[in-house]
Amino acid sequence: MGKFVIENSGALHGNVRISGSKNAVLPIIAATLLTDEACQIHDVPKLTDVLIMQELIEDLGGKTSWENNEALNIQAASISKTQVSYELCTKMRASFLVAGPLLARMKEVKISLPGGCPIGSRPVDLHLKGLAALGAEISQEHGYIHAKADKLVGANIYLDFPSVGATENIMMAAVLAEGQTTIQNCAVEPEIVDLSNFLTSMGAKIRGSGTDTIRITGVDKLKGTNHTIIPDRIEAGTFMIAAAITGGEVFLENVVIDHLKPAIAKLREAGVEIEEGEAGLNIKGATQRQPIDIKTLPYPGFPTDMQAQFLSLLTVTPGTNLVTETVFENRFMHVPELIRMGADIKIDSRSAIIEGVAQLTGTQVKASDLRAGAALMLAALAATGTTEIHDIYHVDRGYHHFDQKLRSLGAKITRVE
Ligand code: EPZ
Repeated sequence: MGKFVIENSGALHGNVRISGSKNAVLPIIAATLLTDEACQIHDVPKLTDVLIMQELIEDLGGKTSWENNEALNIQAASISKTQVSYELCTKMRASFLVAGPLLARMKEVKISLPGGCPIGSRPVDLHLKGLAALGAEISQEHGYIHAKADKLVGANIYLDFPSVGATENIMMAAVLAEGQTTIQNCAVEPEIVDLSNFLTSMGAKIRGSGTDTIRITGVDKLKGTNHTIIPDRIEAGTFMIAAAITGGEVFLENVVIDHLKPAIAKLREAGVEIEEGEAGLNIKGATQRQPIDIKTLPYPGFPTDMQAQFLSLLTVTPGTNLVTETVFENRFMHVPELIRMGADIKIDSRSAIIEGVAQLTGTQVKASDLRAGAALMLAALAATGTTEIHDIYHVDRGYHHFDQKLRSLGAKITRVE
C-alpha cells in the first residue's frame, strides 16, 4: 500500500488546471452501452475509477482506446453478456451504473448488489424502484440483482430522495423505453446535466435536466457522439482549500464558477478572498479567518464531497465551527485522524463541533475513503513537521495527478510506493 510523505509546505502559489469530472465521466462511460456506434469522450481524467469502468465496458464486449491520454474512444458494437463481473463490481460502487443501460440495450442485466463503502450503507432501492416502474422484473438472490423486461415502457417515477445514481440509472433506461417517463424529485447536480447533454447528443429526447423533474420521450435507437466532460467541481473545491489552509494564492483554470457557488460562499464567509474571472478562479488564503457552519445537502446545497476537505480547514480556523453531514450516515472517518494531528473536534451524531487550534502537528494517518484522504493531505500541508498518509489508493481513485499538481504549487510531497 503506497503512502504520501508530506512536509509543512508553507503558502502554495501558482496555477492549476482542473481535470474533467470523475462523477460526470463514470455514468457517461456507462451510457456508451446504449448504442452500437462509436463514442469519443474528451477531457477524461485517467483515474483508477475510470480505468475500472473502462475494464467493465471491455468485459461486456465493448472496445475502448485512449487517444493522447485525454480522450477515450468507446464502441459497444455488440454486448457479449449481461452478467456484470463480480470482481469489478466490488472494486467500485459506480459499476452499478451499467444496470440501466444494459437493461435498456439487452432487456436483461445480472449485477452484484454493490457493497457498502466506508461512508455508509448506500442502498440501491431507489434505482430498483425506478427500473421496476419501467417494466423490469427484478429478483434478488445470492447477492445478485437480476432484472429482465420484454420491453421497457415509460412511467411516472417519484424518488423519495434525490439520489444522483438512481436518477442516472433511470435516465439511461428511460431513453430507450417506449413512451414518456417523468422522474420527479430527481437529482439536479451538474453531473446529471452533463449526462443528459451526452444522451441528448446521442439522439435522446430529454427535458428538465438540472430541475427536480426530468421528462424523457423514449426513442428506438441512439447514435454515437463526441462529448467533452465538465470540469470536476470537487477537485476544484479541494484546491480552493489547499490555497486557504496554507495561506497561499492559487489560480484555478478550467472551472465552471456556477458549480462552485456553495464553496465560494462558505470560503468568503470564513474570510478567504476569491476573485471570479472569465479564465478561472483566484483564491487568496487569508491570515485572519472567521469560524463558519456547514451543512451538507443535495445540490445546490453544500456538497457532501467537499465536507472532509472543508473540515480540515476548520480545524485551524479560530473559534467554534460546526459541520453537519446530512447525506451519508458515516462520513466523519477523517475526524479521528485529524484529532491525531492535534485537531479539537467533537462528534455529536451527524454533527462535528470543531474548535480551531493554532496549528496541527504531523504524524502517521490513514486514508479511509477518497475525500477523507484528500482532507488529510490538505491538513498535512499546513501541519508542522512531517505527515505520512497511508492507503493512498483511495486518493488515486478520484484525483488525477493530485500529488503532481500540489507539487507544482510548491507542496513538499513525496509518493512512496
Ligand atoms: C454520487 O454517489 C457520487 N458518486 C458521490 O461521490 C456523492 O457523494 C453522491 O452522489 C452524493 O452527491 C458518483 O457520482 C460516482 P446518492 P451516489 O445516490 O449516486 C441514499 C465521491 O467522493 N440512497 O445521491 O451513490 C444513499 O444511501 C463520491 O466522489 C438510497 O437511500 O449518491 C445516500 O445516503 C462519494 N437509496 C444518499 O441517498 C438509493 O437507491 C445519496 O446517495 C440510492 C441512494
